[in-house]
Formats: sequence, structure tokens, C-alpha cells
Amino acid sequence: MKTDTPRPIYLRDYRPPNFLIKSVNLDFKLDAAATKVRSRLKVRHNPKSQVHNAPLILDGENLKLDAVILDGNTLTRSQYRLTKTSLTIPETPIKPFTLEIHTTIDPSQNKSLQGLYRSRGVFCTQCEAQGFRRITYFLDRPDVLSTYTVRLEADPKEAPVLLSNGNRLERGTSDRGERHYAVWHDPHPKPCYLFALVAGDLSSIAADFKTASGSDVGLTIYVEHGKEERVAWAMDSLKRSMRWDEKRFGREYDLEVFNIVAVSDFNMGAMENKGLNIFNDRLVLASPETATDTTFEAIESVVAHEYFHNWTGNRITCRDWFQLCLKEGLTVYRDQEFSADERSRVVQRISDVRQLKAHQFPEDSGPLAHPVRPESYIEINNFYTATVYEKGAEIVRMIATILGAEAFRSGMDLYFERHDGEAATIEQFLECFAEVSGRDLSQFALWYSQSGTPHVECRTSYDKRARTYSLTLKQTTPQTPGQQQKNPMHIPVRIGLLGPDGHDLPLTTDAGDALLDDIIHLRQPSQTITFTDVPARPVPSVLREFSAPVHLEVELSEKDLAFLLANDSDAFNRWQAANTYAMRTMVAMVEALSRGKRSSRGTGFAKALSAALVDDNLDWAFRAELMRLPSQSDVATEIGQNVDHTFIYRAHRQLTRLIARRLEDQLAAIHDTLKESGPFSPDAANAGKRAARNAALQLLASLGSKTAINRTADQYFNASNMTEAAHALNLLAASNSPQRRTALDHFYQRWHEDHVVIDTWFVAQAQSPRNNALDVVRALTRHERFDITAPNKVRALIGNFALMNPVQFNRPDGKGYEFLVEQILAIDRFNPQIAARLLNAMRSWRALEPKRRKLARNALTKITKHPDPSRDVHEIVLRILDE
Ligand code: PHE
Ligand code: ZN
Repeated sequence: MKTDTPRPIYLRDYRPPNFLIKSVNLDFKLDAAATKVRSRLKVRHNPKSQVHNAPLILDGENLKLDAVILDGNTLTRSQYRLTKTSLTIPETPIKPFTLEIHTTIDPSQNKSLQGLYRSRGVFCTQCEAQGFRRITYFLDRPDVLSTYTVRLEADPKEAPVLLSNGNRLERGTSDRGERHYAVWHDPHPKPCYLFALVAGDLSSIAADFKTASGSDVGLTIYVEHGKEERVAWAMDSLKRSMRWDEKRFGREYDLEVFNIVAVSDFNMGAMENKGLNIFNDRLVLASPETATDTTFEAIESVVAHEYFHNWTGNRITCRDWFQLCLKEGLTVYRDQEFSADERSRVVQRISDVRQLKAHQFPEDSGPLAHPVRPESYIEINNFYTATVYEKGAEIVRMIATILGAEAFRSGMDLYFERHDGEAATIEQFLECFAEVSGRDLSQFALWYSQSGTPHVECRTSYDKRARTYSLTLKQTTPQTPGQQQKNPMHIPVRIGLLGPDGHDLPLTTDAGDALLDDIIHLRQPSQTITFTDVPARPVPSVLREFSAPVHLEVELSEKDLAFLLANDSDAFNRWQAANTYAMRTMVAMVEALSRGKRSSRGTGFAKALSAALVDDNLDWAFRAELMRLPSQSDVATEIGQNVDHTFIYRAHRQLTRLIARRLEDQLAAIHDTLKESGPFSPDAANAGKRAARNAALQLLASLGSKTAINRTADQYFNASNMTEAAHALNLLAASNSPQRRTALDHFYQRWHEDHVVIDTWFVAQAQSPRNNALDVVRALTRHERFDITAPNKVRALIGNFALMNPVQFNRPDGKGYEFLVEQILAIDRFNPQIAARLLNAMRSWRALEPKRRKLARNALTKITKHPDPSRDVHEIVLRILDE
């Protein structure tokens, strides 16, 4: 191991800090290879500390310590202790004292992208979760809040822009113009993970914002020179986010400036540093020619997400890292609601649920399952997961569902008022909602501590003579690592009953508070609700709006599914019916193929889909969602055991082609009539048309016919925007047509100098299901535009191959697994966070059929045999193998 044998950290061991740091003065002399950092801290003993005479233990990693000065006296070597990860001062004054620490760091060698590093020549920082300790010795924990004053000094030619958190106090030159400096002050006390600085040669776009109460805020987005034209959408998204948070949650911005900086090398999407958000540049830069609608949408939501953190995360932060979902789940909920308000609510919900089922459900049913609030961790970076984020957001959504909009808002208001300026816990958050609503949320709180996706089974029976209809809901939660026993949860199940005419029947029952409005509050292992005065057997619409993150099983015939798809007043469940129908059909196809047969199913689904596609009451974005079949990975998750990706690939193709053949004219007409006319607009309605057009093309292209390929190539070569071009490129790259090479070469010629856009070219090849995909991907790792130290490149090529190309990654000879492990070990030497994330692609290895399972296990074992894995990779591989 690179570090000492990693020990788990437990939530139950939480103790308040022994010391508090009131203020931090940082002074940076920026230099690529030797940056000098001077930190002056106002420290005092914490009156709430439970320990008497505790030594002061500061965290630090990869630092060169130059001096320690306590109240003006330089400490001698015997007055402190130094380890690879800490600086201990055994004796400190009883009264508040000043501690000055001088360190030297080397940003140019930092490829872990945590702490201070350089991204294409720009100095930048990433401190969440524990990067600040790579800058200076500090109490690197989120419950230590301090006010920061930061002085940055650099070469004005190399770094004309000097930024840090808060407002700028002054700037000037020194050394007869050889150096320049800026001083920033952030009046809001914050934990060190929210500290940031940026220094570099950047271009900027500025705008103004007036808050609801009349304060002026200067908004600036900093990007690489030459990219100014691609900033407008991010700026627009920022302004709309600021306005939305005022209207929907009554939250205003609280500094004179708000800065966003786009950097190229970044481990995650973006970071909410107070007043100085730092973004992965692919989530800032967008123009119609360079970015797809999906990217426009992602930019809008991530800009909103980071902005919303200003209140949920920064003003109220987390007491400890176990409470990560307190800021992340809540902020994801907020950004999802923002997108729903700005676009189509139902399409947003469909896309959030798709995401949840594609990433969180498999996580929750595999070896990496953990509670939304984990109880222990070895490496906190491994817990920025779909469970903490997405399931965390679902929990907040359920609170809103159970309480209703008004009480939910009151609970949020109370939370902001009561905990502003504090580091809070999940208990404190829940208490606010319990208090305003008078509800008992103690059973509900299990959602935070119990891992695993609950299964809800719904059985129905109709009594014609008594005119009663009963729904019996049964819940079980499967075992997960470390949790054998599960308790029944409080699950809000929104329902409706469709009469024969397709309209909702009134819900009359004497169920008491088990049914409130249209929500069944399932709290017992099993509950039956009986509806009275039901004139005919209804079709149940269960879990409307996906009101809880559960696996639902309802007995519905194909006829029922087609009926729901055509009639349900809940648009989400119309989509759900289509999705379930398609999934069932594909699973039947896989089953047949694995018995050497060919299923004759599929026409029923094709007919139902065809009927829905002509419904002009449905907007195009929604119809596009109907045309998008469950992915091969979704099918693999659904099957759950003995997974053979070859059969899944073939079944997927079988259904896709069947639909394309049956609906060929209809799909071609959609593709023709939705052709863009007029200038590009990224708004939801226009994006919806492009999505429908692309979805239709995708179905058609599966035919592989000359007509279909020509249609695809035509879209590629005549595209007036990247949404059309990239989609057609993906389809051509997956084909065996002569246009495949021409299109890829054309794209390369056009974009090879653009390090953001060229990733699209890597993605198209990584995802191609052609048989030589692995060789192509391997060759591309040596391509001059590839860079293994740049996370976006790694994700585009290696990540997409492992996650989005199931049939080629899961080759029967196991070579895909070997390749991935090889790459992971190479990356782990300099960027453990990215290496550990890639390893996620192997988490479902136990669900594979025996031959692949063995090969996957062999590949994984190679990592355990490696003498020197990072703590990140070590923890994940142990959990995946369950050893
Ligand atoms: N806190 C960031 C977000 O979700 C994510 C992040 C975590 C970024 C850790 C960098 C490092 O908004
Ligand atoms: Zn976040």
C-alpha cells in the first residue's frame, strides 16, 4: 500500500474537534514547481471538546514543511511531530493563539488533481473532500468553519487572472512589475473543502445580476482564450438558476461577485467553492456547432447544481463526511426541480428515473451497496456515488411527496433559518420537517440507514358482486453487504385506477391514513387497501411519478400495458408502461436465444408504440423517450443472473429491427418532417424535436440497409448542429458501411484541435459494437490526442468502452476485463480517484454467466496481487470481491 494499512472510519466515532480555527490568512507565491504557502491561523480550544489538554493534530499530505511559528516563536524540531499525514503540536497555549505554517508544494507534479495543481497551464485547486491538506497543514474536516483572507502572487504574464473565494479587496504589482498580486476576502465562515484559488491566463465574459432585494452581483465566467463564444448558455443558465432559487426557495446570493472558471483537467463535473465555482470545461462550453442538446441540458443542470450549493452545502454545510447526502441529495433534488420547471416536468422525471435505475439500482443490488448515509468508509472519495446523490435526492422528493408542497417549503425555510452558518446532520434536517408537519418521520428515516432497493409487489383482486377492488402491497428489502436484517420502510406509493374508458376512477375507501389523497402510505410488510363502488375491473396505475425508489412488480398483461401507455393521466406511467412492455419483450427474446430459439414476440409492443407516436398531444421530447428502448445494460440488470451479453446484444438488435421494419414509413416520416428549419435554439421544444428525430433515425439505422445508412450519412454530412452530427456519427461508427471511415475522418479533421469536441470522436469509437472495438480502443490509447492523465479523455475512451459497450467489453474471452484492469493499474499510480471510479464497471461481475464470471474474477484478482494499490482502489476491489 502507498499509505499505511487503511483503517475504516466510523460515523459512531464522531467527536467534535478539539480546536477551532476562527480565521485563516493564506499567502501564495505561485510557482509551477515550487509554490510557497504561508498560512496564519487564529486557533483556540473548542469549549465543546470532550478532551482535556488535547494535542493539536493537523492533517497534511505531500507537503514540504518549512517552518512552524506559534505566537511569533519559531518552533524547534522537538516541539512538533511530523508524519506522512500529520503535524502534531503537543503543547499549545490555553488562550487563543496564532499559528503560522510555511510549506512548499509542487503543483506541476500533481496529477491526482486534488489540492493545488495545473490544468493546461492554469493553477487551480480542488479541495473536496480532503484536498486542502495537500496545500497546508490544517484541521481538514467540514465542521471547522473559518473566515478566509487570501493573497495570491504570481508572474503577471503567466497568470494575469488571480482569483479566490469571496470579494476582492485589493490588487497591485510588486518587484517592479515582475510580480502582481490580489487579495480576496470571504466573510462567510466555511470549511476548508470550499477553499479555492485560480491563477492563469484566461479570457472572461461578464454579466450583471440584481438580487430580489436589490443587491448587484457581478457574474463572470472564465475560459480558455478563443472559447468566449461558447459561454453564453452557461451564463444564461446561471442567471435563471439565481432567479429560480429566489422564487422557489426564497434564497438570494450573498457576495458581490460570483465567478465560474472552466478548467480542462478535473476529476468530477464541477465544484461549488464559495463564490468561485470550478467546472470541468465540458460542462461550461457550448455552442450549437460544438455541443449536443444533452450537453446543453447537462450544463444547465450542473450550473444550477453548483449555484444551489451556495445555500445547501455552503451556508449550511455537513458536520462530517457521513452526512454528504445532506448537501448532495438535497442539491440534486433542487437541480432536478429547476430543470423540471425550466423544461418538461415529465420528461425530466423520466430522465432522472432512467439515470437512477441505470446507475443507482445496480449499485444498490451489488457488492458496493451502501446506505445513503454510510456508517463507515476507508476512502471518502469512493462515496461520491449514485446512492448518495441520486437516491439521496429521491429521499428528499419523498419528503416533499409525503408532506405536500407547502409543508415541505416551510420545513426548508426552518432548516435555512435554524442552521444557517452551521455544519449540520441528517437528524437536524429531518427534525425541521417533523416539526413543521407534526409528522413522525422516524420510520421514514430508515431510508438513510438501510441500503438496498426495496421490492414492492402489488397484487389485485376485483369482486364483481361487491363492486370492490383490493390492492395488496408487499415490501421486502434484499440483504446487502453488512446488513442481513431489514425493517419495513415507509414507502409513499402514488396510485390511480383506470376505468374501462381510460379515465381515472374516484378513489373511495375506508383505509384511513393508509391512503391520503392518491398516496398509499405503505409502512407494514404487507397492506391491503380495498376500494368500494368500483363499477368494473380497473387497470391499476401504480407508483405514479415514480413516487418512491423501489422495484415494483405489478401483474399487468400486455393488453394492460398498452392501455396504460394509451390512456394513463399520469404521463410518467405512460412512459413506464412502454418501458416495461419493451423490457418484457426483450427479456423473452434473450431467454429464447439462450435456448437456441427465436422469440416471436415484439409485434405487440411495436403496435402500441406506433399508436403512441401519432398522439399529437404528446410533445416530441416525450415521444423520443418512448422510442428509446431499455439499454443493453438495463436488460442485464433486469435479468440479474447468468448474464450473457452476446444474447442481450442480439435480443436488443432483434427488437430494434422489428420495430424499424414494422414502423419504417412512420419513423422515416418523423425523421423527415422534424428536420430543422430556422436558426438553432437550445430550448426544450426544439431539443425535443431533435431528440425524436435522432431516436427515429437510430431505430432505422439498425436495419443496416443502404437507404438507412444513406439517411444517416446524410444527417451527418448535412448537420447544422452537433446534436445531429454526433448522433449520426455514433450510428455510422457502429455500422459496417463505407461511410463509417469517411465520417470519422471528417470529424477528426474538423475538430482534432479542440480538446473538448474531439472527445466525441473517441466516444463514437469506444461505443461501437463492432468486433474489433477492443483493438481500436487499445490503439486509441496511444493516439496523439489521447492523454491518460486527462480524466475527460479517460472517461471518453476507457470509461465509455467499459460502461457503454457491454457486448465488446464483456467479450467471451475476457480480454475486455484484462484491458480495463491494466488501464486502472496504470492510472492508479497518479490518479487514484479516477482509477477507483473505472473499477465500478466491474461491480456486476457476479451476475455474469460462469465463463465470463471466472475471467472477470481473474482480472480483478490481479489488482489484489498488485503490491502498491491506492487506498481508493484497494477499498473498491475488496468490496467488489467481498474478501
Ligand atoms: N461537490 C461536487 C458536486 O457535486 C462534486 C465534487 C466532489 C467535485 C469531489 C470534486 C470533488 O457538486
Ligand atoms: Zn453537489
